[in-house]
Amino acid sequence: MPNTLTETLTPTPQGIARAAHLLQDGALVALPTETVYGLGADARNGEAVAGIYAAKGRPSFNPLIVHLPDVETAKRYVEWTEQADRLAQAFWPGALTLVLPLKPDSGLSSLVTAGLPSLAVRVPAHPVMRQVLQALDGPVAAPSANPSGKISATTAAHVMAGLAGKIAAVIDDGACAVGVESTIVGLTGPRPALLRAGGVPGEALEATLGRELDIVDGAEIIAPGQLASHYAPGAAVRLNVGQATEGEVLLGFGQMDCDLNLSPSGDLTEAAANLFDHLHRLDATGQPIAVAPIPDHGLGRAINDRLTRAAAPR
Ligand code: TXA
Ligand code: MG
Repeated sequence: MPNTLTETLTPTPQGIARAAHLLQDGALVALPTETVYGLGADARNGEAVAGIYAAKGRPSFNPLIVHLPDVETAKRYVEWTEQADRLAQAFWPGALTLVLPLKPDSGLSSLVTAGLPSLAVRVPAHPVMRQVLQALDGPVAAPSANPSGKISATTAAHVMAGLAGKIAAVIDDGACAVGVESTIVGLTGPRPALLRAGGVPGEALEATLGRELDIVDGAEIIAPGQLASHYAPGAAVRLNVGQATEGEVLLGFGQMDCDLNLSPSGDLTEAAANLFDHLHRLDATGQPIAVAPIPDHGLGRAINDRLTRAAAPR
């Protein structure tokens, strides 16, 4: 969809109705969720879903997460399991995505699953996203609303910086509360597997399941979030740095001298919420980015995952 005039919609009944109408028409609309902004399309409409790949410049068809209003709707699309039920009870609506066997005759575009026999489903908590799902009365496929491989969007301004002119609209409802993408758990194999660290810490999932999660190496999943280089700013990124060298800008954590601080008090929840916005800001300086060490537990796991990919050789 080249050179579309991208509308900025308000998170009001009018804006939500407009967004649902555009989605129904097969257009792309960026939507706020509690994790990051998603680039939404009607998951039943193959052309609309293809438009997501075109707008993002995604090099290939990789599976997308389908967003649904509630557990009951999710059960229409996937083969439900006891473990899915436990996790959904504990963490939906919220920052958790479950990969389950796709039901036959789901009515979804096969581009959504990239032809896989499984489907990633999430019931988001963000009230605006929930109202859009209700107004559309249908499944919304939505990857993060950023050009492929670039820093994810946690504000409407980030979305516009990357996708203006390529999508029909964005609903602007300010900054995303969680700030990193959902945690993805695979429930298609013999044991539950952590496919991507994210907004719900792995420790919390393991406590709910009463067992450890397998950690799946990304090599098995050919999808952008699993590529070594992803979430990449324009300039180089250096990790676990105590002090920036000449010409670098420093992204800090905890009490320290730095250009921007993810959380001066050392709070990982605050750090996750600030992560992508601070990366966007430091990227705008054009200078190489040095990043202070971040503790590798709880939400720190998701933060370090994103930072490692941002720093990977390209
Ligand atoms: O928080 C989020 O999850 C955001 C918001 C918008 O919901 N969405 C998001 O989507 O991060 P995206 O496309 O950037 O990441 C989707 C990831 C893929 O990289 C892939 O690893 C995984 O979901 N995925 C989707 N379907 C899958 C499947 N059938 N099997 C395994 N992994 C799958
Ligand atoms: Mg993404």
